[in-house]
Amino acid sequence: MSDAQRLFNALYAAMPGILDQPLNPALAAAKTTSPDSSVSGAHMPLDLFSPLNLGALALPNRILMAPLTRTRAGTTHIPNDLMVEYYSQRAGAGLIFTECTLISPDASAYLGEGGLFDEATQAGWMRVTEAVHAKGGRIFMQVWHAGRAAHSDINGVQPISSSNKPIRNDLTHTPKGKVPYETPRPLRTEEIPGIVELFRQSAIRAKAAGFDGIQIHGAHGDLVDQFLRDSVNDRSDQYGGSIENRARLLLEIVDATASVLGADRVGVRISPLVAFNDMAESQPKELVEYVAKELQKRGVGHLELRHEQWDQPAELELAKIAREHYKGALLLNGGFDADSGHAAIREGRADAIVYGKAFLANPDLVQRFAKKAALNAVDFTTLYSPGGKGYTDYPTLAA
Ligand SMILES: Cc1cc2nc3c(=O)[nH]c(=O)nc-3n(C[C@H](O)[C@H](O)[C@H](O)COP(=O)(O)O)c2cc1C
Repeated sequence: MSDAQRLFNALYAAMPGILDQPLNPALAAAKTTSPDSSVSGAHMPLDLFSPLNLGALALPNRILMAPLTRTRAGTTHIPNDLMVEYYSQRAGAGLIFTECTLISPDASAYLGEGGLFDEATQAGWMRVTEAVHAKGGRIFMQVWHAGRAAHSDINGVQPISSSNKPIRNDLTHTPKGKVPYETPRPLRTEEIPGIVELFRQSAIRAKAAGFDGIQIHGAHGDLVDQFLRDSVNDRSDQYGGSIENRARLLLEIVDATASVLGADRVGVRISPLVAFNDMAESQPKELVEYVAKELQKRGVGHLELRHEQWDQPAELELAKIAREHYKGALLLNGGFDADSGHAAIREGRADAIVYGKAFLANPDLVQRFAKKAALNAVDFTTLYSPGGKGYTDYPTLAA
């Protein structure tokens, strides 16, 4: 197995299982939630190609690009020319989510992920947002803190978390090679406002860099998820115990970032059933219900449920619960193709579908879906390798 394949396995294969845009009148007619709503009064059934109002944004289609870590930024975490090209190639997406982006230089987990924590990283991302906007696209930054998935061999500091429980039975890549995850340091209650402030600062920088909004990464066992889910969070303060307490950090981050961008330019991604990074939750239904209700109260622009495979019974049930309690743009992800995406929208189970691997290998995915064209296959050997191979050289239909 190549190093790249091993890194992919370590990162993801092991998972079981803004700029203001004037609303165009056709887009204004698109409803975000009603399964049988019509566009422009034409009584067309909704599908992936229907426009969508997602919070403050008017999207031309419902085929969204998932956050995808590709580790092309190098140790500075500054977006470079290659990243400008990669993201702008995918501007046809209804909305692009960036790779999970470091909000603090001492929270790196993946060696080479993009960052947004100083003037240089901000300037790098500004080139990305300008290139995407110049091609008519829209882009949200996925803001992220790795928590216990980080390592002192990368960052020079012990990782932090909700508890002192390490990620078990797995290795992480560091400059010294593959090593076990470390025992994290549980954050003291009085340190938590500082974490919330890091997210607020990232929202300020995201706005300055020209992003159309942000997505708070609350999935995959990142720091926010380490508070959300009870396999890790064993705290006895106001950030642990009940679901209300476990969701407190997420909601404080939502409020802090919404104070900068407006709630309609903030969204949340959660993955209550995904076990990647040694995560589990004993009350996934209740957790989704509570988070969905709280995001609804706050007018948050989108909620994304990231599943391993969308069509499993427990996954379908969570999507139903989210739909019932959250009336903003509900996004689903995990194993969708074009047909299952159209069906989810037609049946009102989702407002938009988030595509990961398909967008990675098909910069013109929207066009390919429209023409029912074959898709390029993912080259798993180049997911995290340096350079443009397997990053910016996937062919388009026109090529
Ligand atoms: C190479 C790779 C990198 C990923 N990086 C991220 C990431 O940075 N943030 C995140 O939330 N999910 C990440 N994911 C998960 C994807 O966003 C998505 O949830 C997953 O690919 C499932 O969607 P799909 O079935 O359409 O591929 C990554 C997945 C892959 C394959």
